[in-house]
Amino acid sequence: MHTKVFREMKYRRMGHSGLWVSEIGLGLWKWGDPVYDGSRIGEHEGFRILDHALELGVTHWDTANSYNFGSGNSERLLGRYFASREKKVRNELVLATKVRNSVRDEHKMSQDFSPNELGSSRKYIIRAVEDSLKRLQTDWIDVLYDHFPDNLPDGSWETPLEETWDAYNLLVSQGKVRYLAVSNRTITQLEQESNALESVASNPSRRIIGVQNAYNVLQPFKLSSLKNLATRSDEKDFLDYIEKKQIGLVPYIPLAVGLLTGRYRKGNIDTSGRLSDQAGEEWRDEFLTSRNLELVEKLNLIAKDKGCSLAQLAIAWLLSHDAVCSVITGITKMDQLKDNAGAISVSLTKSDLAELDKLIS
Ligand SMILES: NC(=O)c1ccc[n+]([C@@H]2O[C@H](COP(=O)([O-])OP(=O)(O)OC[C@H]3O[C@@H](n4cnc5c(N)ncnc54)[C@H](OP(=O)(O)O)[C@@H]3O)[C@@H](O)[C@H]2O)c1
Repeated sequence: MHTKVFREMKYRRMGHSGLWVSEIGLGLWKWGDPVYDGSRIGEHEGFRILDHALELGVTHWDTANSYNFGSGNSERLLGRYFASREKKVRNELVLATKVRNSVRDEHKMSQDFSPNELGSSRKYIIRAVEDSLKRLQTDWIDVLYDHFPDNLPDGSWETPLEETWDAYNLLVSQGKVRYLAVSNRTITQLEQESNALESVASNPSRRIIGVQNAYNVLQPFKLSSLKNLATRSDEKDFLDYIEKKQIGLVPYIPLAVGLLTGRYRKGNIDTSGRLSDQAGEEWRDEFLTSRNLELVEKLNLIAKDKGCSLAQLAIAWLLSHDAVCSVITGITKMDQLKDNAGAISVSLTKSDLAELDKLIS
């Protein structure tokens, strides 16, 4: 695989495109205004971490318009950061955001939304991107994700696919967006959407270049669909499909929301961690299972043998897949950034990979 090096970081291409992304990226879901939006880190410490991320070459930053209960504050924090730094910073970065969900007005705790204030209609997508650009205080978004599929329970699309993808095509033509990607998709959806984009695109270079799905060494089966019923064979089919189509994979929850860092151990659960806070409630039952906690013990032993941290082992496993272009860990502390960035120096041998594969199958 062709890679580049910038500062202390390695870069891979995102899918079939000319865009280079740092192998380690930043996931900014829990960044915002912790006093009122359920995020875990605000501007004061956040800016210090963002500065250091740049020094390390960690330049792929991932947010969404609706993070932290639709507050829009993750994007606002980034906007204030860009406004306070020299222009070069914005040029160095690959800034990714997502639209589809509703966003509250600033400082509003709750709000009613009309049916046109979410989803994948031309009306909403264009408005949502224009609002994101204002919050982000930038003229362009490097990678725009369609956050969730606009599917009805019977699997059909609520908005005609050609309308959705024509709106995205227009945003690229207007220079507001550079590249298009999707999130939380199955193979069928990727295929239908790629075809829809191809049918409306102004030129063949307009493609879906990336997909952001849940993927980590504890729950590899989640890749192909969010359902726990999926299997490792579904995972393989998904990887084969995106490699064939040259769609780059950006795994989310790469550290299983912190479980793959050794902070949640059998009989010793970190009560200050994200899985323990109020917003983490919805994840606890799924993640803190005896199966997962037992696997963490075994993975920890492998990490010790390799002389790396558990987080680094989990990231290195993801990067061992050619389909993966960047791993966006949701760090909230400076030490976590340094730890995770160090994962690019961990190389897993064939026998390491076989051992991991056996463990998680
Ligand atoms: N497209 C989607 O639908 C979607 C869905 C979910 C996430 N995402 C994206 O993916 C990103 C990553 O996912 P995620 O943040 O949910 O989960 P994650 O990266 O699996 O885990 C993040 C948590 O792990 C802990 N952590 C990270 N590095 C650590 C280290 N080295 N040592 C100890 N603890 C460490 C932090 O916990 P503490 O905060 O407790 O310290 C952090 O909140 C998000 O930020 C977001 O950008 C996208």
